[in-house]
Amino acid sequence: MVFITRPLVLLLLVLFLSCSALYTPPDNYLISCGSSQNITFQGRTFVPESLLLQTGNSSVAASTNSNSTSSNISIYQTACVFSGLASYRFKIASPGRHWIRLHFSPIKNYTWNLTSASITVLTDDFVLLNNVSLSNQIFKEYTVNVTTDSLTLTFIPSNSYSVAFVNAIEVVSVPDTLIPDQATTLNPSSPVALSHLAFETVYRLNMGGPLLTPENDTLGRRWENDAEYLHVNSSVLVVTANPSSIRYSVSATQETAPNMVYATADMMGEDANVAAPSFNLTWVLPVDPSFSYFVRVHFCDIVSQAMNTLVFNLYVNDDLAHRSLDLSSLTNGLRVPYFDDYVAHTSGESLTVSVGPDSLADITNATMSGLEVLKIRGSIKKVVIIGSAVVAVTSVLLIAVCCYCCLAASRKKSLQEDGNGNGKGNGHPWLPLPLYGLSQTSHKSNTASCISLSSTHLGRCFMFQEIMEATNKFDECSLLGVGGFGRVYRGTLEDGTKVAVKRGNPRSEQGMAEFRTEIEMLSKLRHRHLVSLIGYCDERSEMILVYEYMANGPLRSHLYGGELPPLSWKQRLEVCIGAARGLHYLHTGASLGIIHRDVKTTNILLDENLVAKVADFGLSKTGPSLDQTHVSTAVKGSFGYLDPEYFRRQQLTEKSDVYSFGVVLMEVLCCRPALNPVLPREQVNIAEWAMVWQKKGLLDQIMDGNLTGKVNTASLKKFGETAEKCLEEYGVDRPSMGDVLWNLEYALQLEETSSALMEADDNSTNHIHGIPMAPMESFDNRTDDDATTSAVFSQLVHPRGR
Ligand SMILES: *[C@@H]1O[C@H](CO)[C@@H](O)[C@H](O)[C@H]1NC(C)=O
Ligand SMILES: *[C@@H]1O[C@H](CO)[C@@H](O)[C@H](O)[C@H]1NC(C)=O
Ligand SMILES: *[C@@H]1O[C@H](CO)[C@@H](O)[C@H](O)[C@H]1NC(C)=O
Ligand SMILES: *[C@@H]1O[C@H](CO)[C@@H](O)[C@H](O)[C@H]1NC(C)=O
Ligand SMILES: *[C@@H]1O[C@H](CO)[C@@H](O)[C@H](O)[C@H]1NC(C)=O
Ligand SMILES: *[C@@H]1O[C@H](CO)[C@@H](O)[C@H](O)[C@H]1NC(C)=O
Ligand SMILES: *[C@@H]1O[C@H](CO)[C@@H](O)[C@H](O)[C@H]1NC(C)=O
Ligand SMILES: *[C@@H]1O[C@H](CO)[C@@H](O)[C@H](O)[C@H]1NC(C)=O
Ligand SMILES: *[C@@H]1O[C@H](CO)[C@@H](O)[C@H](O)[C@H]1NC(C)=O
Ligand SMILES: *[C@@H]1O[C@H](CO)[C@@H](O)[C@H](O)[C@H]1NC(C)=O
Ligand SMILES: *[C@@H]1O[C@H](CO)[C@@H](O)[C@H](O)[C@H]1NC(C)=O
Ligand SMILES: *[C@@H]1O[C@H](CO)[C@@H](O)[C@H](O)[C@H]1NC(C)=O
Repeated sequence: MVFITRPLVLLLLVLFLSCSALYTPPDNYLISCGSSQNITFQGRTFVPESLLLQTGNSSVAASTNSNSTSSNISIYQTACVFSGLASYRFKIASPGRHWIRLHFSPIKNYTWNLTSASITVLTDDFVLLNNVSLSNQIFKEYTVNVTTDSLTLTFIPSNSYSVAFVNAIEVVSVPDTLIPDQATTLNPSSPVALSHLAFETVYRLNMGGPLLTPENDTLGRRWENDAEYLHVNSSVLVVTANPSSIRYSVSATQETAPNMVYATADMMGEDANVAAPSFNLTWVLPVDPSFSYFVRVHFCDIVSQAMNTLVFNLYVNDDLAHRSLDLSSLTNGLRVPYFDDYVAHTSGESLTVSVGPDSLADITNATMSGLEVLKIRGSIKKVVIIGSAVVAVTSVLLIAVCCYCCLAASRKKSLQEDGNGNGKGNGHPWLPLPLYGLSQTSHKSNTASCISLSSTHLGRCFMFQEIMEATNKFDECSLLGVGGFGRVYRGTLEDGTKVAVKRGNPRSEQGMAEFRTEIEMLSKLRHRHLVSLIGYCDERSEMILVYEYMANGPLRSHLYGGELPPLSWKQRLEVCIGAARGLHYLHTGASLGIIHRDVKTTNILLDENLVAKVADFGLSKTGPSLDQTHVSTAVKGSFGYLDPEYFRRQQLTEKSDVYSFGVVLMEVLCCRPALNPVLPREQVNIAEWAMVWQKKGLLDQIMDGNLTGKVNTASLKKFGETAEKCLEEYGVDRPSMGDVLWNLEYALQLEETSSALMEADDNSTNHIHGIPMAPMESFDNRTDDDATTSAVFSQLVHPRGR
C-alpha cells in the first residue's frame, strides 16, 4: 500500500517531541495588491506589492465600502486591476513545493466593473485558472514544485473588453515532507510519481470540527466542516478530544494537519432501531471527472481506551483502499495521527470516500478525522508498470535463476582464485533446495505457470485448489493475522502437515515486491532458525506463499499484550540466541550476506518447542559486495527498531540489523513495546529509556517484574552490556551478530552455572568453567537436518506498521 513511504523512522520521535520547532518557510511572500499599508489578515501580515510586477500595467481599485476610519481593513478591500497581460515574478530562495494562493473579490468601484471580469492565470508550467469568471469572491490554493530560482505568475483578461484583477497573492514554501514523491492508484493499484505535478486544493475537511483559518494552521491552510458533504445514509456521531492530547509522530507531524483536525472526528452513530448497525460513513464530493485527484485521508483514534479496539475498512470510490485499518497498531499507540494517500479517478460527477465496519473484526465502528482532495494538474506518470502477477513473478524467478547462475560462476571463480577450494562451505550453501523435489510437483503441474516455475527449484508449486482445500476456502476462522502484504491463514495439507498460508493482496504493489523478495531470499536460505518456505501458488494471479506452521506464534505475544504465561529468563535467553543464530547465518552464512531490515519481536516466531525462527524477508536486501561497505537504499523498516545511522545516511549495513536486535533484547527484558507514545516523553523509546538505566547499571529497575529475583546478576549484566553495545550510535562501534551470539551464550552459561551451583548449594566460587569459545557452529551442516526435522510449519504475521 502507499504505505511504502509513510512509516519511516519513529526513532526521531523523541527528538521531535522535544524540539517541535515551527516550520519557517524559506520563501514567504504575502502580497496585498493595491494596498498602501501592511494589512494583518487572519493572523498574517500582507505587505503592499513592491516591484514584483514584471510586465504589464496595473491600476489600483479600492472598495467603495472601505472605511478609512475603520480599523477593519482586509485584503479584500483593494485590488490590482489589469487591462492587459501582466506578470509577477517571485525570486525563489529554496526550490521545491510552494503554495500559490490567490484571493479574488470583485469589490465595488465604479471605475471598473469587476463583477464582469473573467481571467486566465498561468505559472511557468501550468494553467491555474482558465477563463474563469470572477463575479463572486473566490479563493484558490495550489501547490507547485518550483525547480528554478524564480516563479512567474501571469494574469490575462479573458477577452479584450474585460479586465483582470487580484486582491492578494501568497507564494509560500511547503515543507518537503508534506506531499510524497509518489502515491498509489486503486483498481488497478499502481504507484504514480507526483513530484512534477501541480495540485489544486478542492476540499480540505475537518471532520466534525470547526472552520480552521490560517491563524489556526502553521501552514496557513483552511479546513472546513464536513457536514454538507456527508451522504444522507451516514448516521454520524461527532467525537472530540482535547487538542493537546494528540501525539504527533515522525510521519504525521503538526505540519500534516493541526491538532484541532485530529481532535475531532466523525464516527458511526448508533441507531436505536438497529441492534448492530452496519453502514458506511460516506462523503460525496462533487468533482470534475476530467481530472485525477490526490486524496489524503486523516485518522486519529481519539476514543479507544486500549490498543486494537478500532478496526475498519477505508474505501475510495467504492474501491477497497485499506482493509482492516487498525490505527493503534499502525501508529503503535492511541491518539497518534495517521494518514493514507491515494490517487483517484472518477467516471461520475463526484468522488466518494467511505469508512465502514470490517466484517472480520468484531468491532462495528469507524472513524475519520480529516480529508483532503487535491485536483492534479499535469500528466500522470506511472512509476512501475507491471502486467499480471504471473508474468511478473515468472520473470523475477527467471532473474533469480540468472543471478544464481552468475553467483555460482563467480563463486567458482573466487574459489579457484583462493586456490584451496575449501572455503567455509561444502558445496553451494545458497543452492535453492527443492523441499519436495521435482518429481513430486510435476505430476500435479497441470497449469502453465506451475510448469514454467517448477524448473526453478523453489519448493512445491501448489494448485489454487489445493490451497483452497488446505485453508477450508480461506475460512476467516483460520485467519492467523493481517499484514501489509495480505492475510495469513492456518491450513492443513493433504498429508496432515500444518502450514501457514500467506495470501497476498493482488492490488498491493508493495506486496508484489515483497512477494518476489521473499521467494528469492527464502529459496536461497535454509536454516534451523529461519522460517522455511514450503511452496507457493501463483495460479490465477494469486500471490500465495506456504510456510511451516509456528505453533507458538510471534515472540511479542509471549512478552506483553496477551494472556500467555511469562517466559523464564533461561527461555528468553534461548529464544534470543536462536534468533541471533538465524541473523548470524543471514549475515555470514549465505555467500553474499543478507540484511533482514525488519528485525522485531513480531518477526521472530516460536515453534511448538519454543525454538525461535526469524521470519518475513519481504524487506531483505543482499548485503554489500566485498569492495563496498554499505548498500544505499531508501529507509524502510519498522518504527522503534530503526538504526539511527541508517536513517541519517541511508546506508544499510548488517549493523542496522544488530541495532534492531538490540531493541529486541531490551523488549525481551522489559516486556514493553519498542515504542510506546502513551508513556512520558523520556520513556517513549525503549532504546533510549533502557540505555539510561543500563548506563547507570540499574537495568534491573526497569526489567519485567516477573523476572525479579529469578535472574542471575552476572547473566543480566552480560545481557545488558550486549544490548548496550548493539544500540551504539555508530555501526562501527556495534558488535557483529557473531559477537552478539557469543555474548548471549555466555549469559546463558552464567545463568545455567549459577542455577547448577545453587542446586549443589556450593556458594564457594563464582568461577565459571567450560564457556564455549566457539559458539558458532557450522551452519551448512545444520541445514540438512532441518529439512527432515521440521515437521510442523507456519508463520504468523502480526499487523505491521508499514
Ligand atoms: C510591513 O511589514 C514588513 C515586514 O512584515 C516590515 O518590514 C515593514 O516595515 C512594514 N511596513 C509598514 C509600513 O508597517
Ligand atoms: C502600459 O501603460 C502605458 C501608458 O499608460 C502604455 O503606453 C503601455 O502600452 C501599457 N503597456 C501595456 C503592456 O499595456
Ligand atoms: C476606485 O478606486 C480608485 C483607486 O483606489 C479610487 O481612487 C476611486 O475613488 C474608487 N472609486 C470609487 C467609486 O470608489
Ligand atoms: C464606516 O464606519 C462607520 C462606523 O464604524 C459605519 O457607521 C459606516 O457605515 C461605515 N461605512 C461604510 C461604507 O461601511
Ligand atoms: C470587517 O469586514 C468584514 C468584511 O469585510 C465584515 O464581515 C466584518 O463584519 C467586519 N468587522 C467589523 C468588526 O467591522
Ligand atoms: C457589471 O457587469 C455585469 C456582468 O457583465 C452586469 O450584470 C452588471 O450590471 C455590471 N454592473 C455595472 C455597475 O456596470
Ligand atoms: C470564456 O468563457 C466564456 C463563457 O464562460 C465563453 O463565452 C468564451 O468563449 C470563453 N473564452 C475563451 C477564450 O475560451
Ligand atoms: C521537485 O522536482 C524536482 C525535480 O523534478 C525533484 O527532484 C524534487 O524532489 C521535487 N520536489 C518535491 C518536493 O516533490
Ligand atoms: C483560531 O485562531 C483564532 C485566533 O487565534 C482563535 O480565536 C480561534 O478560536 C481559533 N479557532 C479554533 C477553532 O480554535
Ligand atoms: C441509502 O438508504 C436507502 C434507503 O434506506 C437505500 O435504498 C440506499 O441504497 C442507501 N444508499 C447507500 C449508498 O447505502
Ligand atoms: C462508535 O464509537 C463511539 C465512541 O466510542 C460510540 O459512542 C458509538 O456508539 C460507536 N458506534 C457504534 C455503532 O458502536
Ligand atoms: C461500504 O462500502 C463498500 C464500497 O462501496 C461496500 O462494498 C460495502 O459493502 C459497504 N459496507 C456497508 C456495511 O454498507
